[in-house]
Amino acid sequence: MSYEDNARIISDDIFELVNECFDQERSSRNNESRLNFFDTYNDYFVLTDDGSYSINSKEINHKVETLHTSTGAISESFEKFIKPMKFDYTTDIAILDICAGLGYNSSAAIADFMKNSTANLTIDMVEISKATLACGLLVPSPIPEHDITRKAIENELIKQNYATLSLETTEIPENIQINVFIEDARQTVQKLKDNTYDAIFLDPFSQNMAPELFSVEFFKQFRRLIKDDGIIATYTSSAPVRSGFIESDFYIGLGPIFGRKQGGTLASHNPLMLDYSLPKNDEIRIALSDVGIPFRDPGLNNTSDYILEKRTEERHNARHTTKISSAVKTPIFLGKEMDDEKLKRRVERNLAKMNIPSTTSEEARYIVEVENRYNEKQDDKNNSTTRIIEMKKRLKKIKEGN
Ligand SMILES: C[S@@+](CC[C@H](N)C(=O)[O-])C[C@H]1O[C@@H](n2cnc3c(N)ncnc32)[C@H](O)[C@@H]1O
Repeated sequence: MSYEDNARIISDDIFELVNECFDQERSSRNNESRLNFFDTYNDYFVLTDDGSYSINSKEINHKVETLHTSTGAISESFEKFIKPMKFDYTTDIAILDICAGLGYNSSAAIADFMKNSTANLTIDMVEISKATLACGLLVPSPIPEHDITRKAIENELIKQNYATLSLETTEIPENIQINVFIEDARQTVQKLKDNTYDAIFLDPFSQNMAPELFSVEFFKQFRRLIKDDGIIATYTSSAPVRSGFIESDFYIGLGPIFGRKQGGTLASHNPLMLDYSLPKNDEIRIALSDVGIPFRDPGLNNTSDYILEKRTEERHNARHTTKISSAVKTPIFLGKEMDDEKLKRRVERNLAKMNIPSTTSEEARYIVEVENRYNEKQDDKNNSTTRIIEMKKRLKKIKEGN
């Protein structure tokens, strides 16, 4: 099966129905199949708590994910992708929307921009699946600005002979340009120009489904594409994603919490663009344990399974050699007294392999002393990234015995 078939990703039922709908439109040149689609098949759409619709992915590794959080699909776009941005509305703005799906994130960006600016907005939307973009033409628009995004999607789907009729009546305002790339985002990013974007929205499925969209090599492309004050936003709090950003020369910060227990992740080349630190234990685990080994995709063309397997292998090799074992969350006990004797024995066995005699040893305290500087509010000298890098250095020093 090709990468595109795998990444096609929406559930097979709806995928086939959507394709049928547009096949009919092509053969009949009649608008009925598209106009009646939602009423006929609304059971295939997932209503989220704010009244906007989502769709299900197909089953991968026995898991089905919904494209958006059940707490609210369009609310998620505003909360996680728009609110953390610090746009300068007096100048032109450019956004790269990766994994554009139904176009909600772009639509939220348009709504925000139209409220605040009269300059120019460019959005480059990237989505691998025509059928998913086409779903964006079939769901009820959650906000009026979604109609602008729909027009851009429709134009591209007509250009690519997927849709036939021009049914979207909303015009794209003159100061807004929307380009739609229908391909693997890993290919698109290699074609885009340096230093272009004020924001990158990164909204793939979870890391186990799509590790290729969270790799160090992919993020290195972002480093080239984003302006120095630009911000990348993604919903995940995953350790390998966060460490992948650091390895790609970004600072990281805590993103907003919405529909999940943990906040997402923000990344920028300028630490002053990122207000909040990650939780302390996240910093410690990323810096010191094998859970912080990122995803790698040299050549930007490997399969998800290959990337996952290689990371498992790298974690295995790093454990007890360059990283503390992540088992029983060992590193978070550094510098702490432990009451649970059984757990303590396991933790200290793991630590001993890294030349750290006990959780309260001088070595342990030296490594996590860095966290005494922890502050929820970040600044350019003292932030999650500087602390993670410093703890990594200290662990290396202890392990190498100098
Ligand atoms: C969580 S959904 C995104 C929802 C979307 N941001 C929205 O506003 O509706 C993830 C999307 O990533 C797309 N996708 C998967 N692999 C991709 C790839 N390699 N390149 C671009 N898009 C991809 C899927 O088709 C799916 O639509």
